[in-house]
Amino acid sequence: MTDKPVILLRTPLFYGARDKLDALFTVYEYGMKITPEIAPQIKALVGDGQARITAEDMDQFPNLEIIAQYAVGFDGIDLEGAKKRNIRVSNTPGVLTEDVADMAVALFLTLKRNIIQNDKLIRAGGWVNKEEIPLSHSASNLDVGVFGLGRIGEAIAERLAPMSKSISYCTRHKKDVAWAYYDNIADLAKAVDVLVLAAPGTAETKGLVNKDVLEALGSKGVLINIARGSLVDEDALIEALEKGIIAGAGLDVFAHEPKVPAGLTQSSKVVLQPHLGSATVETRTTMAHLVIDNLLAFFAGKPLITPVI
Ligand code: GLV
Repeated sequence: MTDKPVILLRTPLFYGARDKLDALFTVYEYGMKITPEIAPQIKALVGDGQARITAEDMDQFPNLEIIAQYAVGFDGIDLEGAKKRNIRVSNTPGVLTEDVADMAVALFLTLKRNIIQNDKLIRAGGWVNKEEIPLSHSASNLDVGVFGLGRIGEAIAERLAPMSKSISYCTRHKKDVAWAYYDNIADLAKAVDVLVLAAPGTAETKGLVNKDVLEALGSKGVLINIARGSLVDEDALIEALEKGIIAGAGLDVFAHEPKVPAGLTQSSKVVLQPHLGSATVETRTTMAHLVIDNLLAFFAGKPLITPVI
């Protein structure tokens, strides 16, 4: 036994602060076998943006007191289940905004300028062999729509504004910003060339990007998703790409991670990333410290720094 609080990492990686974590807590790791002797010792779980923590998962740990998310999103956690057991939840908002916004811009530029195809072409000797290199499409002077204008959505809009013809956004409530407001995603999609998803994965946003929205976006339109795969009807997206209903998609998130359907992996109209929006050394280190600080605050009986519930 130990007097350090016992925590279980449900995420395989914990950059930058592992020594500190080990010094302060007894740590069980992702993938380790949690025996019936260990389970009751666990007071805290650490999840990430992909972790699913159901009420049944929580029930494996009778003395669980807190779930500290190593992520801003907490859609994978059954909050009602946590509330019923009086389990607190924290997340890491704010510190990952810039990197996730950068990822949206990177996916957009990579997609528009055929960066992946052309990189592959050089490596395969296509340039030297004078293979035909198709022209790409301009990423500048387009109408950009951002769905969800929280910290991340706003950072994406700020980045794209200087190079775009217009910025529009859609949120539940109009915000005090100069950009054009739409109160529904279909009208936003119709008005823009680029639809960027930056809203949380909730019951309200589930499957919102459906056939109708993709048709509204149109055959020159592109979809960028750094939010959650649950926002998109993935089958409708695959069909829209196959039929040329939209021009392409840049995706960091998927409906059933880490599974990505063949309709996406085999499409030349998409740029794919394995959910890496915040995955830089700098940001993951800051996030890790924020997770630790939330855990320390909790176990010291102080208010959580970034509470969810
Ligand atoms: C990542 O997906 C996060 O929610 O931070």
